[in-house]
Amino acid sequence: MFKKIALTAASAIVLSASGAFAAGQELHIPDVAFAHEGPFGKFDQMQLQRGLQVYTEVCSACHGLKYVPIRTLSDEGGPAMPVDQIREYAKQWTITDAETGEDREGVPTDHFPHSALSNAPDLSTMAKARAGFSGPYGSGMNQLFKGMGGPEYIHAILVGYEDPPECAADFESDGYYNRYFIKGAVPDTCKNEEGHVMIQGSWIAMPPPLSDDQVTYADGTAATVDQMSMDVASFLMWAAEPKLMARKEAGFVSVIFLVILSTLLYLTNKRIWAGVKGRKTA
Ligand code: HEC
Repeated sequence: MFKKIALTAASAIVLSASGAFAAGQELHIPDVAFAHEGPFGKFDQMQLQRGLQVYTEVCSACHGLKYVPIRTLSDEGGPAMPVDQIREYAKQWTITDAETGEDREGVPTDHFPHSALSNAPDLSTMAKARAGFSGPYGSGMNQLFKGMGGPEYIHAILVGYEDPPECAADFESDGYYNRYFIKGAVPDTCKNEEGHVMIQGSWIAMPPPLSDDQVTYADGTAATVDQMSMDVASFLMWAAEPKLMARKEAGFVSVIFLVILSTLLYLTNKRIWAGVKGRKTA
């Protein structure tokens, strides 16, 4: 009886862990070694600034970042831009004033605008809303060692556009075939008799947003699609969790504290019982 309940609970966890990969497809997202990963990882400030540039020049045509205040671009641990530069930067956004209802130039205390395209999701929390790797019960306990894989997922989507597979030769779609997007439409000709999808990926409504040299980086980094994708993914990770570094630091301090406390407790315990332990039980 108990065993059965435990089993059901275990399979429920397995099911919910793989729930993100519905439609019968398993996602194999390429891992990216981001600077912010690992217990001591820190965001790469130059990469965040490049990612901000990609977002500003490319993604913002469709996607908003409505939960991110523009002034946080100067925060330490983030893109850390000088305050006067941010004042200039904010001016390029048109903000609908909450009080007057009129459009005006942005100021640092404004948030980034909403999505310009109604079916393009807001990207403020995208890096935490998507999991690129399977859960601890999936293959290889990936999330335990590599993290949720949110930025990896964003990178993969941006580099995942390819020519559609042969089975879709006659498929007419408004979307674009992407091998890492599995929530979109798939033609019946790419499914088997049971309706199981036989290809990797599906059709996404976002046209391929990036092409080589689309932006010109001030620091001279070559703007390949792969590089821009990593940079914007890293920037979106910062946008979704700007306090990542502070959280890691607090975690590290707590662990040290617990180690010291445990040592003291152990020594205290030894001392209290020393008299009793030394005695022979006749
Ligand atoms: C021309 C408009 C347009 C541009 C430019 C654009 N996107 Fe999109 N994006 C969309 C649309 C529309 C969707 C919804 C796709 C769907 O659900 O089929 C989307 C979806 C997404 C998703 C979510 C995928 C998912 O799992 O639901 C991510 C992540 C994303 N875009 C990132 C970006 C990034 C980063 C950039 C800039 C490099 C960018 N997009 C540029 C229109 C755009």
